[in-house]
Amino acid sequence: MSTRLEDALNAAVARAEAEAPAKLASALRYAVFPGGARVRPRLSLAVAQACGDRNPALADAAAVALELMHCASLVHDDLPCFDDAPTRRGKPSVHRAFGEPLAVLTGDALIVAAFEGLALAGASAPQRLSPMIVSLSKAVGAPHGIVAGQAWESEPAPPLDRYHAAKTGSLFVAATTLGALASDEDGQRWATLGARLGAAYQVADDLLDAVGSAVTPGKPLGRDESLDRPNAVARLGVQGAIERLERLVDEAIESIPACSGRAALIGLVRHIAERLVPVAIRAA
Ligand code: IPE
Ligand code: IPE
Ligand code: MG
Ligand code: MG
Repeated sequence: MSTRLEDALNAAVARAEAEAPAKLASALRYAVFPGGARVRPRLSLAVAQACGDRNPALADAAAVALELMHCASLVHDDLPCFDDAPTRRGKPSVHRAFGEPLAVLTGDALIVAAFEGLALAGASAPQRLSPMIVSLSKAVGAPHGIVAGQAWESEPAPPLDRYHAAKTGSLFVAATTLGALASDEDGQRWATLGARLGAAYQVADDLLDAVGSAVTPGKPLGRDESLDRPNAVARLGVQGAIERLERLVDEAIESIPACSGRAALIGLVRHIAERLVPVAIRAA
């Protein structure tokens, strides 16, 4: 795992935990470390680099903000009122380890820390800060962000594409968009890459949930079926979901805009995809 990213995450968590009530401080650190795949911040940093890495400190802050948002979403997603998951990343979920009130507060504090870190770093590039905050807000709020994605689960028949796009795709769109914006490029040109990769990632997660008994993901499996969640395997079958995943990865690579670091970025996308497709296929 890149030390640059882990160091930047550590600094953000240290800022939030300093002098905080002891259990909240511990829960904040517990929710972020040790990490999972760190896919979203790595993607964001790779896009910033592909676009010339014109403001590395701002790119770091964007990457940190994305991962803190993601960690917050996992803490809240695991709560009894959502997926009631006992484990996450191979250890007890935050509410199991610290109790529900602290899990709610930990998610809240991580969301705020994400915006705070971006605002602090963005002081050096005020013209970029506003579109970055807008992009991050869209990814996590209503009507199209993670909040909306989770809210689709309270509707009688959620449309699968919109549900996946909101709960997972949105933060991948923010990852590519923020990476480009940090390097002073047009974020919008990079949205399609994020949307397609995010869609692929969620199909892989559904496959893992449905047929992943051969792998140890560090979180409970079979949840989509038992909670009656709309998911790609129920909709397309295992083979159909694998085909959709492979098609989305190809389309993601096709959508990478012309830029100085295009070849390296294709390498990273393939690397992410190789991790996804074999897991899914092996599980099947
Ligand atoms: C899990 O995301 C939730 C989804 C939206 C698929 P990740 O699989 O990226 O989780 P970590 O960060 O690696 O644990
Ligand atoms: C999580 O979705 C996506 C979030 C917005 C938190 P899932 O509930 O499908 O992900 P896992 O399987 O618990 O990681
Ligand atoms: Mg969920
Ligand atoms: Mg879940």
